[in-house]
Amino acid sequence: MTSLKGKVVAVTGAASGIGRALAVELCARGAHVAISDLNEGGLRETAALLGSQTKVTTHLVDVRDRQAVERYAADVEAKHGGADVIINNAGVAVRATIEDISYEDFAFVMDVNMWGVVYGTKAFLPLLRKRPEGHVVNISSINAMVPFAKNGPYNMSKYAVLGLSETLMQELRGSSVHVTCVHPGGIQTNIARSARGVSASEAAMFDRVAMTSPEKAAKVILGAVSRNKSRVYVGADAKMMATAKRLLPDWTVQLSGLASRNIARS
Ligand SMILES: NC(=O)c1ccc[n+]([C@@H]2O[C@H](COP(=O)([O-])OP(=O)(O)OC[C@H]3O[C@@H](n4cnc5c(N)ncnc54)[C@H](O)[C@@H]3O)[C@@H](O)[C@H]2O)c1
Repeated sequence: MTSLKGKVVAVTGAASGIGRALAVELCARGAHVAISDLNEGGLRETAALLGSQTKVTTHLVDVRDRQAVERYAADVEAKHGGADVIINNAGVAVRATIEDISYEDFAFVMDVNMWGVVYGTKAFLPLLRKRPEGHVVNISSINAMVPFAKNGPYNMSKYAVLGLSETLMQELRGSSVHVTCVHPGGIQTNIARSARGVSASEAAMFDRVAMTSPEKAAKVILGAVSRNKSRVYVGADAKMMATAKRLLPDWTVQLSGLASRNIARS
C-alpha cells in the first residue's frame, strides 16, 4: 500500500497507546479512520485528537465478541463505503506463571490477543478483497520469538498471531491483499499498568525499560505498511532480541527468562 492518503483504515484497541497513536498518524497521512475499542471514554478522547480533514467514525467493539467484530466491519462498509486496511491492535496481558494462572485469565488473554485478531482478519478480508489494494496489519510482539516468564498466555497468543500472519502471507500471495506482522519491543503505553497481576513496582519498571514512544511506533508501523513489508520489529530492543534468538536460541530464551522472572520483586 504505497500511500495511505484517502484510504479507509479500521483500528482496534484505539482508545490508548499504539492504537491511539496509529489513529493520529493515519489522519496526519490523510487516511479516513474507523477506530474501535471497548473503552468508550478513551475512544472519545482519541477521536478528539483527530483533525477534521478526514472522515473519522468510532465503534464500540469488544474484539472477543465475533458477532460484534462482524457488525463493526458491516458498519465500516456502511459508513465509509468499504475498507482498505484492518489493523488488529487490541491486546491485554496477565502476569502469572503457567502453573498458577487460572483458566479464566488464560482464556481472557487468548480471547483478546488471538481470537480478536482472527475475528478482525476474517470479518474485514471480504472488504479488503473488493479494493484495488488491501492490507492486514497484525500487532504481534517480540514475545512471538523471545518469550518472557510469567507471561505465558501472552507469549502464546503472540506466537499464534505470527503463525496466523505467515499463513495469510502464503494464502494471499499474488492477490491484492498484503500482510504485515508487527513485533514491538517495549513501547511506553498502559499495557503493563492495565495488566492483571502486575504490581505497581513492576509497572514502574516497565515504564523505565520501555524505550519507544507510541508515536514513534506508529510511524515505524505505517512506514512498513507503505513499503508492503511482511514483518517489522519496532525499537532497537526488539531488533536486538530477534537477532539474539536467531543466533543463540537457547541462550536467549534462558536469559530473557532470568530477566523477566523476577523483575521488581514486590
Ligand atoms: N506496549 C508494549 O510494550 C507492547 C509490546 C509489544 C506488543 N504490544 C501490543 O500492542 C498492542 C497495543 O497495546 P498497547 O501497548 O498500546 O496497550 P494499551 O493498554 O495502551 O492499549 C490497548 C488497547 O486495547 C483495548 N482493548 C483491550 N481489550 C479489548 C477488547 N476486548 N476489545 C477491544 N479493545 C480492547 C484497551 O481498551 C486499550 O485501549 C497490543 O496488541 C499489545 O500486545 C505492546
